[in-house]
Amino acid sequence: MSLLDPLICQLDHALRTVFVSAPTKRAMPGETLSEAELSDQERQHAAALMRVNHVGEVCAQALYAGQAFTAHDLSIRKALEQAAWEETEHLNWTERRIAELGGRKSLLNPLWYAGAWTMGAVAGHFGDPVSLGFLAETERQVEAHLDGHLERLPQHDDRSRAIVDQMKADEIAHAETAIRLGASELPLPAKMAMKLAAKVMTGTAYWA
Ligand SMILES: [Fe+2]
Ligand SMILES: [Fe+2]
Repeated sequence: MSLLDPLICQLDHALRTVFVSAPTKRAMPGETLSEAELSDQERQHAAALMRVNHVGEVCAQALYAGQAFTAHDLSIRKALEQAAWEETEHLNWTERRIAELGGRKSLLNPLWYAGAWTMGAVAGHFGDPVSLGFLAETERQVEAHLDGHLERLPQHDDRSRAIVDQMKADEIAHAETAIRLGASELPLPAKMAMKLAAKVMTGTAYWA
């Protein structure tokens, strides 16, 4: 395999994540629930929150891919690739829900992907325990963020809520996997920087 092959794989993954609809094996959570009666304002708000979640999943794809690219241990690289596959289902569900609500995906997805991939690759460069610690902390922060969305989504928007509920359960499992594989605890300044980056991303993605 030439040096170029992994780079081409990375580019292919990036383009598919940003421009192609993601596949899913599991049915979309809440698929059998009926659509709630939402006002225009509620519908727009729910679509914007689901856009934020979709951007989060684009970033998750990029983080996992960037980390797998620089991961040292083959078994960890495989675990990261497996986790990235599981996250594609979240991409699929959020994308479909945005469409159902009449919203659109973020125009800045290529930028989000590039930024998150770089963060993942840098984390991977520091060695597997730090890289896994970064992953565990990301998943913990995503879990807290999804909790916030469950409070902000219209109470009767059962279809959106079912998706967020299942994603939250999956993110908890991803954090547990990272810890089981040997994640180290990140220093507080790193955690704060990650929270700040996530705040910029979620604040922007709500509008664009
Ligand atoms: Fe996810
Ligand atoms: Fe996750």
